[in-house]
Amino acid sequence: MATIINGKETAGKKRLEIAAEVKSLKARGVTPGLAVILVGNDPASRTYVNNKEKDCSECGIVSEEYALPEDAKESEVLELIDRLNAAEHINGILVQLPVPKHISEEKVLRRISPRKDVDAFHPENVGKIMLGDYDFLPCTPSGVMDLLDEYGIRVEGKSCVVVGRSNIVGKPQAMLLLHRNGTVTICHSRTKNLAEVTKGADILIVAIGKADFIKADMVKDGAVVIDVGMNRRPDGKLTGDVDFAKVSEKASFITPVPGGVGPMTRLTLLKNTIKAARLQKGI
Ligand code: GUN
Repeated sequence: MATIINGKETAGKKRLEIAAEVKSLKARGVTPGLAVILVGNDPASRTYVNNKEKDCSECGIVSEEYALPEDAKESEVLELIDRLNAAEHINGILVQLPVPKHISEEKVLRRISPRKDVDAFHPENVGKIMLGDYDFLPCTPSGVMDLLDEYGIRVEGKSCVVVGRSNIVGKPQAMLLLHRNGTVTICHSRTKNLAEVTKGADILIVAIGKADFIKADMVKDGAVVIDVGMNRRPDGKLTGDVDFAKVSEKASFITPVPGGVGPMTRLTLLKNTIKAARLQKGI
């Protein structure tokens, strides 16, 4: 039976450390500030934004929400980003994704100043991650690495399989594992014999957005299984990409959903906001 990796508890503990760091920054006259832009009425995005703002207030970080209607013009969003790029008291800017279809995600993400890009989605920051010389790490992959560290799970020399190749999770996750000397394979919808590949994983990280996609027969005995999925069941309950009940009988470590990776994603955002404030204020 696997050890359950408790992301909620880990993030809670680390949030206290962040709160202490914010306190010491405030004593030096710096209050980190995060601006969150939400366009439209997607209920999941609304929940994520509320959670991010709650985390900020718990840690003493100032958060400002800019909620724009579903039919907001792309130019309005870009102008708002320009204003926030120039605002002294705002250190980090986050545009909650997805944005409505008539707005170019690419244009929006490129408009955020790389110095305030606390999601690490700007091409300049993506490039820096590739080179291993970065200021900001993307929230979910960094949260996953923090969880592995917290549970003493070493990456070096391990076979790491990432299922999913998104810009937000899969690709940067693979890069962070590679920086730790893991042997990394990225799988996706066109991968042949997926189960063969996943069965070779010492560390299996799944981010494809399909409930219960990874079954026990796709997992090696003793594997570490990290579930990044967040899917809604018809009854409204949250569930991951991994068949938790069955896979937890085989794995050595496993993350639950909810309470696994999600809280750690939110934690990285706080860390990045503080980092942005330090960089901008030269401390
Ligand atoms: N939507 C889903 N995940 C994310 C994320 O990490 N950042 C932003 N900005 N939007 C998201």
